[in-house]
Amino acid sequence: KSNDYIVQSIEESLLPVGYEEIEKAARDILSPQAFSYISSGAGAEETARKNKDAFQKYSIVPKLLNDVSEVDTSISLFERNYPTPFILAPVGVLKLADDQGDLAVTRAASKYNIPFIQSTVSSFSIEEVGQSSGAPKWFQLYWTSLEDISFSFVKRAEKAGYEAIVVTIDTVTLGFREKDLSYGYSPLADGYGQGNFESDDVFLSTVEEVNNSAIVDGIIKNINYPALNWSHISKLKEKTSLPILLKGVLHPEDAQRAVNLGVDGLIVSNHGGRQLDGVISSIDALSEIAKVVNGKIPVLFDSGIRRGSDALKALALGADAVLIGRPYVYSLAINGEKGVSQFLANFLQDFSSSMMLSGVKNMKQLQQLKIICD
Ligand code: FNR
Repeated sequence: KSNDYIVQSIEESLLPVGYEEIEKAARDILSPQAFSYISSGAGAEETARKNKDAFQKYSIVPKLLNDVSEVDTSISLFERNYPTPFILAPVGVLKLADDQGDLAVTRAASKYNIPFIQSTVSSFSIEEVGQSSGAPKWFQLYWTSLEDISFSFVKRAEKAGYEAIVVTIDTVTLGFREKDLSYGYSPLADGYGQGNFESDDVFLSTVEEVNNSAIVDGIIKNINYPALNWSHISKLKEKTSLPILLKGVLHPEDAQRAVNLGVDGLIVSNHGGRQLDGVISSIDALSEIAKVVNGKIPVLFDSGIRRGSDALKALALGADAVLIGRPYVYSLAINGEKGVSQFLANFLQDFSSSMMLSGVKNMKQLQQLKIICD
């Protein structure tokens, strides 16, 4: 029940409340290269800007006098109940923000039973994160150019108790991120993203000499796979019984094809504007995809969620759950595990207040909330 979320008093908290202030505080703490890696988008950052601006085109039309004294934020996904409609997006190289990286994030997530999606290029291994807390864990797969490595990750995730596989389809090559290129900066080259590779027998058997720079070279060489196509998704379906979600869907026909193929869920996302610059904002892509999918499989959403009212809009426009990205990464940088907990407490409070003020008391009513677009 949403009313149980307790906001830390602002005096006690080292974390600012508003997103813009959180981002500013993270900028002050992180090196310019690290902050830029997290905050920037690809190209001229047109899509990163659109993600933000597009939310403002949608307005909530509250329907009131509905006795909202009991608000239920719970959802059910893949036959499991969750107390909130939120999931933490896969973000690689989290040690860039805090030494405890993924471990700190999953511990914070466990307090709210929020699933954490671990990145392929995470700072800690599947096994370490698997054991770190009771939060539900999903694994995000970047299809590697050596297929056996991809399948090895999936097997390891199954063994470590992960509950879903998220295949990111928008990263067949890395986006042209001008700021990182200007800095000549890559957190992978700095060794922040090799948690899963250091202990993977299949991967290590491909590296001639096992030392740090060979591992880093191996990751950079194998991580993007431009030949990725629908046949790989069919093959993955044969390899695992876990639910498979595709992350990065923006075209309704891709959504339809995924449904036809028997994919278990979709994530409408443009990777926070970090891949192809100039693509449609994620929120503008959502309704048409939700319409095509028509409830057959869950449609999740990310790119631009900053506060409770953003989440409210995405859920009303057809998302079944919403992924949070940059806000938790900045909170981690500011105050580690505690920062992420504080952020989540505030975010959940903001979300449940937003539901109450819109006159909705559960997810079913939220799906019927009226949203108009300018
Ligand atoms: C990401 N994202 C990402 N996605 C993914 O599938 N695998 C990954 O390893 C990463 N790594 C990553 C690093 C950083 C620093 C950021 C900011 C993002 C994308 C992420 O899952 C999500 O799609 C975006 O963060 C959503 O955009 P906003 O809401 O954070 O702006």
